[in-house]
Amino acid sequence: MEQTYVMIKPDGVARGLMGEILSRIEKKGLKIAAMKLAVMEESKAKEHYAEHAARPFFPGLVEFITSAPSLSLIVEGKDAIKIMRALNGATKPAEAAFGTIRGDFAMDTGRNIVHASDSPEAAAREIKIHFGNDKILSYKRSV
Ligand code: CMP
Repeated sequence: MEQTYVMIKPDGVARGLMGEILSRIEKKGLKIAAMKLAVMEESKAKEHYAEHAARPFFPGLVEFITSAPSLSLIVEGKDAIKIMRALNGATKPAEAAFGTIRGDFAMDTGRNIVHASDSPEAAAREIKIHFGNDKILSYKRSV
């Protein structure tokens, strides 16, 4: 089963949107395989966003992501990577369709509530950064 990394960013947590976003993920039929609420370490934020290191917004992005608690998730399901990206909507809130998380709740690209891995390679890399060798749940047996 495919797994992807999802982050509810500090703005999403601070605005009380964790429940709303988790509910959308669960109602779609995806499973939450891991969940960690923490203030992200600066080293992890820099590693996570390494591809943007040369961009002018990078210092502000790292400062914001490490400024307050964020919720890291591993989300699991068939085509989880594509489906999570679709649930989130476009990176720029002005381009995000209504009905998506960003389309419904965000106004600013730098405060766009959620992140989700954009490829299988990114998912593996990001899960490793944020969950390391943690033991991750398996849903092979249902209750
Ligand atoms: P995310 O999906 O987490 O991936 C990279 C992040 O960089 C993106 O969401 C935005 O939050 C942020 N970002 C991208 N472009 C800009 C920008 N022009 N100004 C500020 N932040 C940006």
